Amino acid sequence: METLILEPTEENLALAGEMLREGKLVAFPTETVYGLGANALDPEAVKKVYEAKGRPSDNPMIVHISRASDIGQLTPMLSEGIVSLIDHFWPGPLTLVVKKKPGVPSVTAGGLETIGVRIPDEKIALDIINYAGVPIAAPSANLSGKPSPTKAEHVIEDLYGKVDAIIKGPDCRVGIESTVLDLSGEKPMILRPGIVTKEDLELILKKPVEIDPSLLTAREGAEGQGEFSPKAPGMKYKHYAPKAEMIVIEGHRDKVRSEIARLKMLNERLGRKVGVIFFEEKAFREAAHNFFADLRDLDAQGVDLILAGALSEVESLGFAVMNRMLKAAGYHIVTV
Ligand code: TXA
Ligand code: MG
Repeated sequence: METLILEPTEENLALAGEMLREGKLVAFPTETVYGLGANALDPEAVKKVYEAKGRPSDNPMIVHISRASDIGQLTPMLSEGIVSLIDHFWPGPLTLVVKKKPGVPSVTAGGLETIGVRIPDEKIALDIINYAGVPIAAPSANLSGKPSPTKAEHVIEDLYGKVDAIIKGPDCRVGIESTVLDLSGEKPMILRPGIVTKEDLELILKKPVEIDPSLLTAREGAEGQGEFSPKAPGMKYKHYAPKAEMIVIEGHRDKVRSEIARLKMLNERLGRKVGVIFFEEKAFREAAHNFFADLRDLDAQGVDLILAGALSEVESLGFAVMNRMLKAAGYHIVTV
């Protein structure tokens, strides 16, 4: 397939909107990561997204809209809580999982009765959705299992030749995917941590927000094999895996630093190329912003082994980055 690489000019954004409406696949930037868009109401278009990404078909798409009033097309009823979250966090990196209207194709929802919705906080994305005039299903624009793309070049690397167009926009500001909050059950529950934290949500909802227990126990066993299985289908798959072997080193910061140095030297002496990811203490936003790009950079450099220093998971933002880091390492952890 020929893939158009488009600069984000007004003309090209209008073209991208038109292509999406007609059932084509267009990748575009959001504030979190790049998304691979398709008309959410067109089952054939959505099927092509699963194919292009190599994504399991039981993994639902997040539907992107540009105006809060458009949520009425997707869900039958809005509680007071949902409305206050929308007022406070949209546009922004928060996906709300709500009951799905029957008119939304089942394939978009991965066969579930609920649907994830958000308004992205990125003008290019909003313009494209407006021009399309339909809700846009958009998973992260990476091949399934690879790190999420935070730069246009990552999308080109993964999807060139597999999609109709890629918008060559700016690097993503946030760098990790949106927080996914399930509002379809009795209690609000975070299914995927992100930069909108449990504390942020509780402040607005004025009630406790739970965290999917599988997120807390994942490190105890191999993924999906712990006591709890994740409620978001996408959280059960191996994710973000770099080509290199990866180890997370956790413990007291000074000890982590010297263990990384020791393992690096040891491995280099035996002829292995070693890459290191070690963020400043408490530089959580920076860590979120850089983590996926760092993984791709190290792969491009052809390293055999990545040694990554753990962040504090006591901080909600550290927890969100660690969720990705531990998955990337396949829960290969060394404690010092
Ligand atoms: O920041 C983001 O959310 C990016 C940008 C492009 O918006 N999108 C994104 O989409 O990360 P994706 O498809 O890569 O991840 C969506 C996650 C998956 O883990 C999926 O299982 C979960 O959200 N999800 C979507 N709809 C759901 C639903 N109805 N119930 C439970 N989990 C859902
Ligand atoms: Mg993804």
